[in-house]
Amino acid sequence: MTEVTSVLIGREDIRRRVQELGRTIAGDYLGREPVLITVLNGGAVFLADLMRAIDRRLEVHFMAVSRYGAEGHEKGRVAILLDLEVDIDGRDVVIVEDIVDTGLTLAYLHSILRERTPASLQVVTLLDRSVRRIAPIAPRYVGFPCPDRFVVGYGLDHRGRYRNLPDILQIDDLTVLDEDPDALFGPRFDVRG
Ligand code: IMP
Ligand code: MG
Repeated sequence: MTEVTSVLIGREDIRRRVQELGRTIAGDYLGREPVLITVLNGGAVFLADLMRAIDRRLEVHFMAVSRYGAEGHEKGRVAILLDLEVDIDGRDVVIVEDIVDTGLTLAYLHSILRERTPASLQVVTLLDRSVRRIAPIAPRYVGFPCPDRFVVGYGLDHRGRYRNLPDILQIDDLTVLDEDPDALFGPRFDVRG
């Protein structure tokens, strides 16, 4: 089991890096009031920690998008499932993402938000899997580079599951999860302490 599944980034490393990102963003937005826009559902856990690491006035709002087209169809279009309830014209917007992979989702979101004329538009992502990038988009703030491996935990899912894991786990063989959906829970991956 541990050969195909291992802790890629532990909770303490995540905590430390999120604090750093929060301090950096707080410094960069001095005298301004950023609007953090989170992409549901994956970005929610990161947002919850990041927003509390930013010692500054800010707002949080949510969007949900979905890539459609056949699975693995990289050029699939993106649909807005949940739109903003706030006018971002003239605001300093920061998109909060869990992971940027091909960048297609983010590039689409970026272009839609850009049309709404924010004063500025930046991206913070916890993980950046830049080796798989298709769309030419570079996040301003990156938590960690991510290897070309499937990851779950800290908001990231596999078929809706495992978002509640406190660490980020690398899954080299997804059939393990099909055979035992509880494989990632319990003492084996409890690296607390
Ligand atoms: P992109 O459009 O290819 O950049 O897709 C990014 C989205 O795909 C992320 O926001 C995640 O929701 C999802 N995603 C990409 N890689 C992973 C992964 O390794 N684990 C879980 N979700 C992922
Ligand atoms: Mg996402």
